[in-house]
Amino acid sequence: MAETAYERYLSADKMLSFQKKEEDLICDGERDFQGVQQEAEFIWTRINLMLKRTNEKLQASNVWEAVDLLGQAANLWGGLTQKSQELLMRLWPNDFLKIRKMIGEGASTADSPRYHESERLARSLWPLFENRLAKYSLTIPKLLQEEPDDTGHHDMQALLKAMMWYDYRVQEFAIAHLYLVFGVIGDRTAGLKGGTTDFLINRYNSYLFPKLWDSINSLYVDFKPSQ
Ligand code: HEM
Repeated sequence: MAETAYERYLSADKMLSFQKKEEDLICDGERDFQGVQQEAEFIWTRINLMLKRTNEKLQASNVWEAVDLLGQAANLWGGLTQKSQELLMRLWPNDFLKIRKMIGEGASTADSPRYHESERLARSLWPLFENRLAKYSLTIPKLLQEEPDDTGHHDMQALLKAMMWYDYRVQEFAIAHLYLVFGVIGDRTAGLKGGTTDFLINRYNSYLFPKLWDSINSLYVDFKPSQ
């Protein structure tokens, strides 16, 4: 059948040629494993463009547009979380053992440049957030204490929430991925880059915007539960 304009636009032939042929799959779950890893790379390119635009919007003081974009990028991480859950359901541990023997050492997603770029781009938003706080003589605790109704900084409150939501979605993916690892290779088996779940748990503890999460404590410093 002649190639349609739709397939030409997608470079569908070329794109799908990167999938293993059905007869070469070690098990059906390999279609899901390779497919999800490939989809993740595509999704990270989409997230990274959104983060780049978010940065530009903040530099141009278009805070509401930045809030909107960050929310959309966060939702894409939700898709990655769901895919990790699908793999936990789909991959039979003994099948994955066969896949791993074939992949060999060193081929870990921990080396994905697009994943690392997503982290760099997200962290690049923090100085822009702090600069805007300084511009309006604000601090995070001050912003937290302002009532949503009478604040003149509604946009900054929305940005604070959007950054928290983005960070949460990334951490949520990290948790789903951690359970995928527990369920497929266990918590004492080294990964393709030599890390066990200890490495992943340490990484999970590193928020993208740690000062933001820590600032919530400041609200409760003088709080005493009523008798
Ligand atoms: C059965 C499937 C999987 C297993 C057993 C697994 C296992 C691991 C392990 C052990 C690590 C630590 C580094 C290493 O030694 O490799 C790691 C890192 C990583 N994996 Fe997976 N993984 C799986 C699937 C996935 C999928 C589907 C994705 C993406 C959607 C993914 C994304 C990542 C990322 C981004 C890292 C680096 C994490 C960081 O630096 O914080 N993994 N994986």
